[in-house]
Formats: sequence, structure tokens, C-alpha cells
Amino acid sequence: MNVRPRLIEEIATPMTTPPLLEQPAWVALAAHRDEVKSRHLRELFDEDPTRGLRYHRQAVGLYFDFSKNLITDETLSLFAQLVRDLKVEQRRDAMFAGEHINVSQDRAVLHVALRMPKDRTLPVDGVDVVAQVHHVLERMTTFANQVRGGQWRGHTGKPIKNVVNVGIGGSDLGPVMAYEALRHFSMRDLTFRFVSNVDATDFVEAVYDLDAEETLFIISSKTFGTLETLTNATSARRWLVEHLGDDTAVAKHFVAVSTNAEKVAAFGIDVANMFEFWDWVGGRYSMESAIGLSTMIAIGPENFYEMLAGFHAMDEHFRSAPFEENLPMLLGVLAVWNHDFLGFPTVGVMPYDQYLHRLPAYLQQLTMESNGKHVTRSGERVAYETGPIYWGEPGTNGQHSFYQLIHQGTTTVPVDFIGFANSLNPLDDHHDILMSNIFAQAQALAFGKTEEELRSEGADERTVPHRVMEGNRPSNVILATELSPRLLGSLIALYEHSVFVQGVIWDIDSFDQWGVELGKQLAVTIIPELTSDAPTKLAHDSSTNALITYYRSLKENGRGDGDF
Ligand code: F6P
Repeated sequence: MNVRPRLIEEIATPMTTPPLLEQPAWVALAAHRDEVKSRHLRELFDEDPTRGLRYHRQAVGLYFDFSKNLITDETLSLFAQLVRDLKVEQRRDAMFAGEHINVSQDRAVLHVALRMPKDRTLPVDGVDVVAQVHHVLERMTTFANQVRGGQWRGHTGKPIKNVVNVGIGGSDLGPVMAYEALRHFSMRDLTFRFVSNVDATDFVEAVYDLDAEETLFIISSKTFGTLETLTNATSARRWLVEHLGDDTAVAKHFVAVSTNAEKVAAFGIDVANMFEFWDWVGGRYSMESAIGLSTMIAIGPENFYEMLAGFHAMDEHFRSAPFEENLPMLLGVLAVWNHDFLGFPTVGVMPYDQYLHRLPAYLQQLTMESNGKHVTRSGERVAYETGPIYWGEPGTNGQHSFYQLIHQGTTTVPVDFIGFANSLNPLDDHHDILMSNIFAQAQALAFGKTEEELRSEGADERTVPHRVMEGNRPSNVILATELSPRLLGSLIALYEHSVFVQGVIWDIDSFDQWGVELGKQLAVTIIPELTSDAPTKLAHDSSTNALITYYRSLKENGRGDGDF
């Protein structure tokens, strides 16, 4: 398959498609919303005893129950029309074909190529990206096997026992989430640490008990220009050289993962020890690229390839299943329905699996950095809500903290529950207790408890209003057999593609992240102003001036009573 990359103007200004709010299906969904809003999930379930089965789909090892959303068949058929009219499938195909769908950066978006099998080809701008991907995967495999097998020796000849990934954002959250998620499959005599925050505490605590002779640093940065990562990498290099007493020790203890060979070399890492990826991999879509080197060392190449196969299986499903059966399409349109039509501002992601405890943080970057946008692809201010806030915690912990608000608060929080039929650590009846809570929470959210029910149970009259649970609060339940590398890949790809579907509907560029730049630039200006010899006269707004001056005086005299 060879494609001519479409001109940026052709993609950015699809003049044949009317703006979202004028789309007939969108207008019809708005009218339909008014009908549906007066309904209760209790009624919808009573009217259709098969609802729980009708609104579930199974694909790629996932059972997806979306019956407890405030939807009807009409909701789905209107969204099917919207997806058709907005040419979501064509946009999906354009992504898979390597077209420059990241319009503001004029880039292809090809994380799907990272998980294509070796026998596929995908020429983009004249280069087969699948061959490039597999070349790097093979280098990663060799290196991971050397570290795992003890053949990769440190400067003093000792095998590596500790792997420290230094990176931030997509160069941290994917690796740490995947390591935690797949810890069960990891090589237990290796220690893994993840340093992301420029707060020195992160680095100092991460290396506190490590032996430098046995420690490998993986400096992960797509751009190799991120201040936090370079600051931590510099401290890591100093720590290593101080402990080993020799500058040349860096060669055996530092490798880099980046798209920027020049900067890697300038930092002092031999590019022979650099694992490459490409500008068509977004940071938040990079965990299965070379950014996953720590994951591969932890779980081994075979399991890593299994994870890639899981991603790819979901890619193929997304690419080929009709809308009605397509998990990412359905998850995506339900998010739009809940956010834009029903007005629910956030989504809770609650994995009932301790191994997935970093999944909500990972999904926050994936969803919010992708779809937290205020202009369309052609730069018009949007007139509707885009990306909702994602947040979450593993169950059952959340139940004993914030679920109160989810059940009885004045804000409705649609929840994605994620659970597995089998525990990787079966122990007595823990797992059934855990899973009973998913089913019970989804049930309680949907159906609640009425005054009548409370009274018939003999509730004290004074407590009745406090105990009423209105219900009608939507949730999805995603079930699978058990957590595995393959399953993790499929689950992440499900969310990636759901984010894509939402972004296409909102006509935004889900693959840029300009919003993070301003704060970075301002911080660079402020850094020199925080030192004691900097000029005292500052040129910011009065709040920033006062905060900086107070900070400096606190730092200098410990009391904060300087002249500010
Ligand atoms: O500042 C945001 C961001 O650019 C993310 O998109 C990215 O994942 C992260 O910083 C880290 O960037 P890099 O991998 O280039 O260091």
C-alpha cells in the first residue's frame, strides 16, 4: 500500500462536511437527548429484560457491557449516522495509511505501525515504517536479553541488577504503567525504578539504595530536550561518575531512547546505545515503541511481542468491525454522549486490579493531552465541549473514599469499571470479593435505592432522605479473562482508538499538545530569577512578582520576612 500524503489543507479544511453543530445527526441527538434525559435506567431495564445482553459486545478478548448508559437504540443509530457523516472511518483509514492527520504539526500518526507484524509493509513518504520498527525491536530484543541474561556488564564488570527509566509524560507514564501492570510477568531479580519529576526527591529516593555498579539508566525522551528529563539525566550521570570515579563509566550505564540522535550524542551517550523512534509516534502513544525498553527488559521480549500482538488485534478490530460491533467506536461515542449531550464533565476509570493502579494516570495523559483542545483542526474556536476530565483509582480503595460523591453527589460521573475473571494471585476468596464490588457498584449507580424501598426495609424515617440513592448514573463494565501482556495491549489500544473517535467527532487535532508550551517557556524565564544574585526588580504581574520575592526571601533567610 503506497499513499500520497494528502496536502495539509486538504485534511484541515474538509469543506464538504458542515460544522459539528449543524450536522443533522448532531441536531437529532440534541432533540433525542431531551427525551432520554427524562428516562431512568430502571425503566429502560424494566422495558427490555434483554437490555443487559443487547448492549454488550465482545471482541479481542474483551467483554464490553455498556447497557447501563442512558441510551436507546435510537441513540446508537444516530451516532452511527454521525460517524458516517463525519467520515470517521475514512479518517481512521487515513491514520492507518500514514497520512499527515496531525495537521498542526504536519505529521503522520502511526503508533499503529509500532505493532504491525513483521510481514506487513507500510511505506510512508517512500520508507517502509514497519521494517524500521522491526529493526529497532530486534535491537531492543538483543539488548534486553543481554541485560536479563547478565551479559551486559557495568563498568566494573558486574551484571546489571537495577534499571532506572528517566523520562516524563509519555516517556514515563507508559513505561511505569506497563511495568506495574505486568509486574507479575517481570524478572524478579531485577529492580525497576522510574524517575520523572524534576523534584530532586524523585531521583534521590529512586537511587537511594541502588549500587551504581549494577545500575543502568535508560534516558527516555522523544525530543531529548525536555528540561525535567535532562536535569534528572544530568544528576544521574553525576551520581554514577561520583560513585564509579570514572567518566567513561557512562558508556556501560546509560542508554537513550529518542528521535533525536544529535542531542543524545551532545548529552554524551554513544548513539550506538540509542534506541530510535520517529516523529510519527506521539509521546502518549509511545509505550510500545523503544520507549518500552524498560518494559521489554522487565517482561522479556516474548511477552513484549505478545503485548504488541494485543495492540494489533485491537487495531485490526477497530479497522474492520462495523460501527455497531466496534468497541473503540462505541466507547468513543458514549464518551461524547455523556459529555456533550448529558453534560457530565468527567469520566472515572476504576480498574479492579491492583496491577493496573497506574492506568488512570496513564489514561489521563492519553485522553486529556489528546482531546483537551479548544480549536478545530482548521483553527476555529469550538462551540461545544471537547475532552472530558479523566481520573480514577483502583477498586475497591476508591469505594472507601470518593465513591460517596459518585453515588449521591450533585455531579454525575460516568464510570468505566475494568475487571478480570481470574486473579494472577488467587488467594482464598479475595477475587470474588473484589469482583462482586464491580457488579454491585455498577448496579447501585444505575438503579439506586428509592424512598419506598428504604421504607419497606424499615429504615428510620429521619434517615430516609439521606439514604436515598437516585441512581441513573451511567457506567461501562469491561471484563476479560485475566490480565496478560496481550490483554494490556488490547485494552490500551481500545482507549487510544476511542480517543481518536472522539477527536474526529469534535474535529480537533488529537495529536498535538501546544497547550503545554507556555508554562514551559515562562518557567525558563523564571528559573534565573529565583537565585539570590538575580535582580530584585521583576517584570511580571503583581502576584507572580510577590510570590517569587517571598520565595526568595524564605529561601534566603528562612523566615520570608524580606522586602517584598
Ligand atoms: O510537555 C508535554 C510532553 O511533550 C508530552 O507530550 C511528552 O510525552 C512529554 O512532554 C515528554 O516529552 P519527551 O519525550 O520529548 O521528553
